[in-house]
Amino acid sequence: MALKGEIKLPGDKSISHRALMLNALGDGQSRISNLNPGADVQTTRDVLVTCGIQIEQKHKALYVQGGGLRPFSQPEHALDCGNSGTTTRLMMGLLAAHPIHVRFEGDQSLSNRPMDRVFRPLQQMGANVSARDGRLLPVMLSGRDLWALDYTLPFASAQVKSAILLAGLHAKGETAVHSPAYSRDHTEQMLKAMGADITVNGRHVTIKPLTRPLHSSDMEIPGDFSAAAFFITAGLIVPDSDIILRKVGVNPSRTAFLTVLEKMGADITVANQLDVNGEAVADLRIRSSALKGIVVPLEYIANMIDELPLLALLATQAEGETEVRGAEELRVKESDRIKAIVENMANWGATIFEREDGFSIEGPTQLEGGKVTTFADHRIAMTMSVGGLIASKPAVLDDARCMDISHPGFLDELRGLSA
Ligand code: S3P
Repeated sequence: MALKGEIKLPGDKSISHRALMLNALGDGQSRISNLNPGADVQTTRDVLVTCGIQIEQKHKALYVQGGGLRPFSQPEHALDCGNSGTTTRLMMGLLAAHPIHVRFEGDQSLSNRPMDRVFRPLQQMGANVSARDGRLLPVMLSGRDLWALDYTLPFASAQVKSAILLAGLHAKGETAVHSPAYSRDHTEQMLKAMGADITVNGRHVTIKPLTRPLHSSDMEIPGDFSAAAFFITAGLIVPDSDIILRKVGVNPSRTAFLTVLEKMGADITVANQLDVNGEAVADLRIRSSALKGIVVPLEYIANMIDELPLLALLATQAEGETEVRGAEELRVKESDRIKAIVENMANWGATIFEREDGFSIEGPTQLEGGKVTTFADHRIAMTMSVGGLIASKPAVLDDARCMDISHPGFLDELRGLSA
């Protein structure tokens, strides 16, 4: 059945985390609207409250009371980071210079994800950190005075880059972070808008310590591009579809997926672009399209890392071969997303080959549908739910609740577009 109509997406998850964290260092009260309603952002809110930040919900907005330069107090219990890598890693950077002792914990998935990528550079700045097996949660952090660091990331990661920049806000001297490829730049944009002394020069960012609190900033969070990507995919592969997604964040550090889709032959128009608090926002119109396979250029991979499972689904419907390489980071997301997508697509009859750092797919294939192993990963669950729209049998997920991590109500909204 064709998809028709229009929807507004939940607020961007990455920007939502940052809006809460940075406004905690603010000089007054900030009003944040269209915050992402998922469990991960709620986790950041809870963690900040546990560290002494006042956050209040009024009507549909959240009000964060900025605590100035030293806003955090000693938490009375461990910081439960649930499923959220962004909460854990950015909070480690944010708290590392504050004189408190914290224990970071997480669910089973998060407890298997590497945390040393963040705390090794923080240790080089002087932070006192210990971790299970030297790299996993639980992580114990004792904040103390930090000195600045000049750090070259071994791989592109917005989380690691952001953690170091946040620690740099309270370090002695100028901190520099160099990335081997571009990754999302929401931390840099927001810090600049809130008055931090930050300089961005391509893949090189420097930050000076704060001498006064950040300016508390009212924010309307743009629609989540990564949430939009599921609807974009559905609109492209379900025959005769024509849908509009309103007020989607189209920050160029997030939209390589659109560029790749255009090269594959997708019919997508971007209209009404405007600037909301330094972030580009636009309406997207998607019409079903005949797609052709693509070898994804390596320089796009970090930019579209969260959209790669969807690219696998699109590739099963595209004519010819699609190849994704250089994406080994997918193996340490909420699940091993290379294994998860290859296993599920192969079970549905796709011609897909697993690579150490990606996958290749030969299309097009009529997908069989049926059983899905989600690995409790929201993006795998949502990708396969979209796949179920064009498969011979509907998708049957072993865990539908994991979708609440980023987009509660996702399935209802998808069904609502069925004409
Ligand atoms: C995020 C960065 C990405 C992404 C994650 C959110 C962020 O991770 O996969 O979902 O908000 O900074 P890395 O950039 O660390 O790969």
